[in-house]
Amino acid sequence: MRYTNDYEEHRTLSDGTRLLLRMVRPSDKQAFAEGLAGLSERTRYQRFMAPKKGFTDAELVFLTEVDGENHLAIVAGRERPGAEPEGIGVGRLVRMEDDPESAELGIVVADAWQRRGIGRLLLERTTAAAAERGIRRIRAQLMADNGQALGLLKGFRGDSEEQTDHGVLTLEFPVPEQNPDESVDALMGLIRAIGQGVAITPEQISEMAAHPVDSMLSMVTLLRQTVTSPSPSDNDRCREWHS
Ligand SMILES: CC(C)(COP(=O)(O)OP(=O)(O)OC[C@H]1O[C@@H](n2cnc3c(N)ncnc32)[C@H](O)[C@@H]1OP(=O)(O)O)[C@@H](O)C(=O)NCCC(=O)NCCS
Repeated sequence: MRYTNDYEEHRTLSDGTRLLLRMVRPSDKQAFAEGLAGLSERTRYQRFMAPKKGFTDAELVFLTEVDGENHLAIVAGRERPGAEPEGIGVGRLVRMEDDPESAELGIVVADAWQRRGIGRLLLERTTAAAAERGIRRIRAQLMADNGQALGLLKGFRGDSEEQTDHGVLTLEFPVPEQNPDESVDALMGLIRAIGQGVAITPEQISEMAAHPVDSMLSMVTLLRQTVTSPSPSDNDRCREWHS
């Protein structure tokens, strides 16, 4: 199983932001309380479908003390030098008691970090973790006018069932087929970052070393592109890679 309690994953967004993805921990309570306070009213409303002002102690226990089997949550933190990662997103699935092969989705990304691919990443990881636990269907409830969430779920929905009640849309869709080797995704993200001129860090090189075969294949593709269409910036990128 990949998504165990000690699952940790480092990802670099195409803008160079470094993220740490990991399972939620009981010690995250304060970060959750602060995170909610930092969300816009709109984002809070979209996530909780209510004007949520703060979490009660019982809610913080529920959100952070999960069993990892029937309730799991993956948090995304922005890595920063000399400090703990800053929490900027959470993806959560809670198995439904009356239908153990289905789970309810909750996902939120801090306003300043939306539209950078974090929501999609959290959705992919939480659904992959759910698949490992025998969850086959996802249920998501959202305001019917929540265009961001609808856009996010669009690619995942496949044959979804939909129902709207008093402005609340309920979507039910199958957990997508899982990519057996997600290192390919990781490398593609890295290559996109290189393509946009982001220098590779030693940590990223270690990440690639963990998946040598895929890394080699991906680097060959990248080098083939830079060799067939050379430009000054391409040469700089090759130097960055080799230095
Ligand atoms: C929904 C939410 C989690 C998306 O997170 P995000 O990090 O912005 O999403 P991503 O950057 O990964 O975008 C994924 C896709 O979502 C859609 N999307 C994201 N923001 C959008 C926006 N403002 N308008 C339209 N579509 C949007 C797009 O299809 C996007 O794909 P693209 O970038 O290839 O166009 C975020 O907007 C959020 O926290 N909203 C409030 C809470 C909420 O609504 N939760 C869902 C109900 S539980």
